[in-house]
Amino acid sequence: MSSLQLKPHPLKTLALNPSRSAPPRRSLSFRCSAAARRSYNITLLPGDGIGPEVVSVAKDVLSLAASHEGIEFKFREMPVGGSALDATGVPLPEATLTASKESDAVLLGAIGGYKWDANEKHLKPETGLLQLRAGLGVFANLRPATVLPQLVNSSTLKKEVAEGVDIMVVRELTGGIYFGKPRGFGTNDKGEDIGFNTEVYSSSEIDRIARLAFEVARKRHSRLCSVDKANVLEASMLWRKRVMAIATEFPDVELSHMYVDNAAMQLIRHPKQFDTIVTNNIFGDILSDEASMLTGSIGMLPSASVGESGPGLFEPIHGSAPDIAGQDKANPLATVLSAAMLLRYGLGEENAAKRIEDAVIETLNRGFRTGDLFSAGTTLVGCKRMGEEVLKCVDSRSPLAALH
Ligand code: IPM
Ligand code: MG
Repeated sequence: MSSLQLKPHPLKTLALNPSRSAPPRRSLSFRCSAAARRSYNITLLPGDGIGPEVVSVAKDVLSLAASHEGIEFKFREMPVGGSALDATGVPLPEATLTASKESDAVLLGAIGGYKWDANEKHLKPETGLLQLRAGLGVFANLRPATVLPQLVNSSTLKKEVAEGVDIMVVRELTGGIYFGKPRGFGTNDKGEDIGFNTEVYSSSEIDRIARLAFEVARKRHSRLCSVDKANVLEASMLWRKRVMAIATEFPDVELSHMYVDNAAMQLIRHPKQFDTIVTNNIFGDILSDEASMLTGSIGMLPSASVGESGPGLFEPIHGSAPDIAGQDKANPLATVLSAAMLLRYGLGEENAAKRIEDAVIETLNRGFRTGDLFSAGTTLVGCKRMGEEVLKCVDSRSPLAALH
């Protein structure tokens, strides 16, 4: 067990510090066994669309970076989403959940595609992903949106607005309207068809995500903005009340509250005002896509989902992009950076994580860009070639290479 600590590395994401002792209250419980074990079981869930392409690149980068640090991986690939539906008839086969639970960390590509869009709810690829998140109990989803100096011109916003943005969105992941009951289809008293969902949060669900977000903020710039819709929704009213109650445990963190409509506007108007954002499942889904565009491309945003115990789930925030699937056009960097988060948050392997992040920065410095980020004066490459360039940079950072 260990707590979070910010390390001064280029992406300014949070780092796990295995050497720090656990806080007295409770730990954030990222799995941390770096000192005792150097061999890990990783479940790979490539999924659909561009998922297999980006996971294959991330797997190679993960293996190489880890081997430089004396870490060994055993990979097990399992089906999820549409590919699982085609192979087994369900979007999350029992064997996939079991393998995921039994491993040290799970790396997922993306799920979904046109082919399954019209499926009934329980047979949608997305249902498999939600079942996986719930099954692993990963209630906290960390989505860093950092504008890298190398990519500032790729943002659709003016340079002076985007420059220096460094936001961590902490999204609640296993509650709210995504999972709330009652839900379903029915008819109203006029005999019309209706569809309905329930936005519901219990105080314990809010307390645990709030605590985690305060700890995350504390290791960044100690500013936490809680985003809700407490002027309209009861679930948000309770959210705000509980976040304020938990704030008393973190007097050193400056807490603010913002309604989600205003937050959506402020993210575009003046994104630098944000440090750490904590919000519910659906607002986090929407705001993290919005935040990704500050950085230039959704193809750059990784995520880490963690729970009280057990393996974390690491995935890019982008979808399966069926329009470019199988064409070697996808940007693999969000998945590569998710692999770095896996090393840091999932395994406590900070050095290997840093090695990957540095290699990504160096690859961008050398001018390589996939189509989503390409601009005049840079070198357009495909998914595979981008992976090869990152691998070269991982290698060039080897202490042995430095000696020669
Ligand atoms: C995400 C995705 C998923 C979500 C979908 C694919 C179910 O949009 O991870 O942000 O809504 O959580
Ligand atoms: Mg989303």
